[in-house]
Order: sequence, then structure tokens, then C-alpha cells
Amino acid sequence: MSIEVIRDLRGLHSSIARHRNGPLNTAASLAIVPTMGAIHEAHEALVVEAKKNANIVLATIFVNPMQFGENEDLDKYPRSEEEDIKRLEDKGCDIVYIPENKTMYPDDFDLTINVPKLSSVLCGKERKNHFQGVATVVAKLLLQSGADYAIFGEKDYQQLLIITSLVKDLDIPCKIVPISTVRDNNGLAISSRNQYLNPKQINIANNINIIMTEAAKNFYNVDINETISFVRKSIEKVGINKIDYIEIRDNHNLENISNNNKSNARLFIAVYIDEVRLIDNIKL
Ligand code: PAJ
Repeated sequence: MSIEVIRDLRGLHSSIARHRNGPLNTAASLAIVPTMGAIHEAHEALVVEAKKNANIVLATIFVNPMQFGENEDLDKYPRSEEEDIKRLEDKGCDIVYIPENKTMYPDDFDLTINVPKLSSVLCGKERKNHFQGVATVVAKLLLQSGADYAIFGEKDYQQLLIITSLVKDLDIPCKIVPISTVRDNNGLAISSRNQYLNPKQINIANNINIIMTEAAKNFYNVDINETISFVRKSIEKVGINKIDYIEIRDNHNLENISNNNKSNARLFIAVYIDEVRLIDNIKL
């Protein structure tokens, strides 16, 4: 069956109703895969995971203006709708929802969802209001679709925790299912931003995972600060010119951890290779 492309809320509701009651059965379950498009292998892996969990898979493509800062170029975000739809269809997606801005944010829209503690550190420190935009749009997508499952990647680990927290606090009846970070053959975390890197920059970026893995190997033998300074020095040595953060925090609540209790530690990195910002993280 070919994928159904939906662009408005009423169409979404009737498509889901049809799928839930249609060729499957009334108990058919629905999994949602929210994306901003520019579909790549990691998004495809989310769809594969969605299919394992539910009968019906809904992907969404929405470049959410609310999560872009003033200096971040919303208009330059890669858009490839036709190819995206084809890739989602090939992976067995049933419905793709591509709402317009006015469907998500009508003129009188006046809501922000804030998950303040989890949003105040790491990527939330420099990118003020970014996670409010993410939280608000994801809450809307989950409620618009009534999905039973929602699949997110650990690549954006802080985002995953924020979404898990908001779903719990708002009692949204949707199970959040994480997938591990999808990497290319050289270990580089796949990202739509990788397409902005030239071959020389890719060689530099490939070191990020090597350095993180090395740090993870020694983590339990050394002081936390030693791990951080090892990562910092190694990152600088491979020619990365700007570090946003290198931090080790608790896997569940993003709080700082101490040398006395190092279980649940995760290493988080955000760096710039020239103008391209890359993030990655690894369980220690
Ligand atoms: P986007 O960057 O398109 O990512 C969509 C989903 O793909 C997110 O769950 C993200 O964590 C996951 N993903 C991206 N690269 C990944 C990788 N290498 N490995 C595993 N998962 C990966 O994240 C967003 O869009 C938006 O913030 C969104 C949640 C859609 C809200 O607008």
C-alpha cells in the first residue's frame, strides 16, 4: 500500500481513524516518528523501530520555527520533501503528516511548554528557548495523532529526556521508545548537518566518536575531571576550533555526578567544525 500524504489536522484524524479500523483491526496501534525532514538513515531506523512496536506508522515532517533561535537560519534548513516521502514509503511508513505553519501555530496561538530543569543545561544553555519549541511542538504532535508510541533517537539525548518528562507530567498516554545513536561506518553520528562538511572536515569529525570511546574505556579508572580534560585536549589536537561544551552528567536527570557515584554517567559533547555544530553523547 502506498504512503498517504496528509497536510491538515482534519485529514490526519480521518486517515488515522481509517487505518486504525481498516485493513488491520479496531485494536490497531499507532507509532509516531517526528522529524524535521531531510530524511536520512537514522530517521529510517526510527521507522523500523516504530514498525516493531505498532501496526500503523506515522512520520511527521515539520521544520518547527519555534525551536530555531534568532541567529539560527530556519530558511536554510535542508528541505527535500519529495525524496523524504519516497524514503519513508520505502521503509513501510503508512502515513506522513506535513502540516503547514498555520496548522501548528494559528495566529492566536499562545502556548509554550517548558521543562525548565532539564532544559537549562547543555544545549539549552546557549540555545535559549530551543527546548520550549521542541517540547511544545512534540506535545502537539502527540496529542494531534493520539499515537500509542513515539520513537526518538539518543543522538539528541537531552531532547529525549525532556520529551519523556513532559509526556509523564502531562499524562499523555504515549510510550516513548528510544533508539541508539545511528552512526556511519566511521562512527560519525548521522545528522542532516553532516552534508555541510567537506571531506577534510569529515575526517576531523570522525575523531569525535574515537575520542568518546577512548574516554569511556578509561572512565572508571580515573577522576571525572581527568576524563573531561582528556576529551578536551584530544578534541583540540584533531583541529576542532570551537568547543561549546564537554560535560559528564547523570543519564536520567542531567545533574552533575561525583567521583563517589559514577554509575549512570553519560558524556555529552557539542563542538563546531568551522560553522557546523555537531553534538554527540555516549554512556560511560
Ligand atoms: P530531527 O533532527 O529531524 O530528528 C528526528 C529524530 O531523529 C529525533 O528523534 C532525533 O533524535 C533522531 N535522530 C537524528 N539523528 C539521529 C542519529 N544519528 N541516531 C539516532 N537518532 C537520530 O529532532 C528533531 O528533528 C526535532 O527536534 C523534533 C523532535 C522533530 C521536533 O521538532
